[in-house]
Amino acid sequence: MNTEVQTPDAWEPNILAFCCNWCSYAGADLAGVSRFQYPPTVKILRVMCSSRVEPAFILKALKDGADGVLVAGCHIGDCHYIDGNKNAEVRINNTKKALGKLGFDKRLRLEWISASEGLRFSEVIRDFTEEIMKLGQNPVKEVKK
Ligand code: FES
Repeated sequence: MNTEVQTPDAWEPNILAFCCNWCSYAGADLAGVSRFQYPPTVKILRVMCSSRVEPAFILKALKDGADGVLVAGCHIGDCHYIDGNKNAEVRINNTKKALGKLGFDKRLRLEWISASEGLRFSEVIRDFTEEIMKLGQNPVKEVKK
């Protein structure tokens, strides 16, 4: 049982980021090495390509209480699996549409972040964290209590 008491001010979003191995994960690494500040609200899961992220992964993350899910991959034209990120874009947009029916669409974001964009990685995390802060906690957490 979690005995930790959180006041509303103390709440910080819990964001799961799926980062493609070749670009976005390296971008996150560069952000760390370069000491670009971003909030500790993100947990990174490395996948080989953004196209590896199935809608079921996103639904499971939200069902399990993630406040936001970020899918990050190489810029269009740079995917190491040719059209993986184009396929991911279609898939994520469709997932977003479906989530929109539940009011969860703003909790999913797709971004292209290259290996040299450490600063951009930190900016995306900061911006997404602010957006999730405005949305508040994932309501599924309340149902689970
Ligand atoms: Fe990065 Fe496909 S390898 S998006």
